[in-house]
Amino acid sequence: MELLDAIRSRRSIGRLTAPAPDAGELRQILDAAVCAPDHGELRPWRFIVLEGEAKDAFGPVLAAATEAEYRDNGREPEPSKVKKDLTKMDRAPLVVVAACDYQPNEKIPRSEQHAAVVAAVQNASLAVTALGYASMWRTGPNAYNPHVKTALGLSEDCDIVGFLYVGTIAEGKEKPPHEPELDGVVTHWQPPA
Ligand SMILES: Cc1cc2nc3c(=O)[nH]c(=O)nc-3n(C[C@H](O)[C@H](O)[C@H](O)COP(=O)(O)O)c2cc1C
Repeated sequence: MELLDAIRSRRSIGRLTAPAPDAGELRQILDAAVCAPDHGELRPWRFIVLEGEAKDAFGPVLAAATEAEYRDNGREPEPSKVKKDLTKMDRAPLVVVAACDYQPNEKIPRSEQHAAVVAAVQNASLAVTALGYASMWRTGPNAYNPHVKTALGLSEDCDIVGFLYVGTIAEGKEKPPHEPELDGVVTHWQPPA
């Protein structure tokens, strides 16, 4: 698929089915991710792949993390939130967690390191589309829960930038490509007269 076609046809699909990209395709997706611009070439991105039985085992980990965070805040866990966590991993056959592991650097601020990881996730989602699959980038409370970071082997200082759910679009669940709207968001600056 041409790059511009992939950009326009990439749409978030909430529920994806098998097949997931195979090992070779996943490699291409991750290769695309790490081709993103990265000020200072600090390589702040970290990717954690959840697939197969490990992915299935991660739902209960999310639920336990949500419960723990409620308790940390002196509140009783909301059963509906905990129950929802248990099924989140059913949304797609493959999930890639993208995180930013901030590198100490005097010149490159953390916001730019975070931006590099955002660019990497977008590269990955476009590669997914170009290979004939679909994805959905999600965050939500799990992304900001320190217990989730710990479960993924990330330090407290890392940020989870997104959970990229990846798989195949079920028949009838396709979405139309974007029709870009530039009104009100683009201006052409002119020097003062
Ligand atoms: C940083 C980030 C976080 C997102 N988190 C969520 C999320 O938690 N839940 C959700 O439904 N969509 C999430 N999305 C997806 C957007 O809702 C989606 O991209 C938007 O609705 C536009 O749809 P499209 O991707 O099909 O163009 C997220 C997107 C980004 C960039």
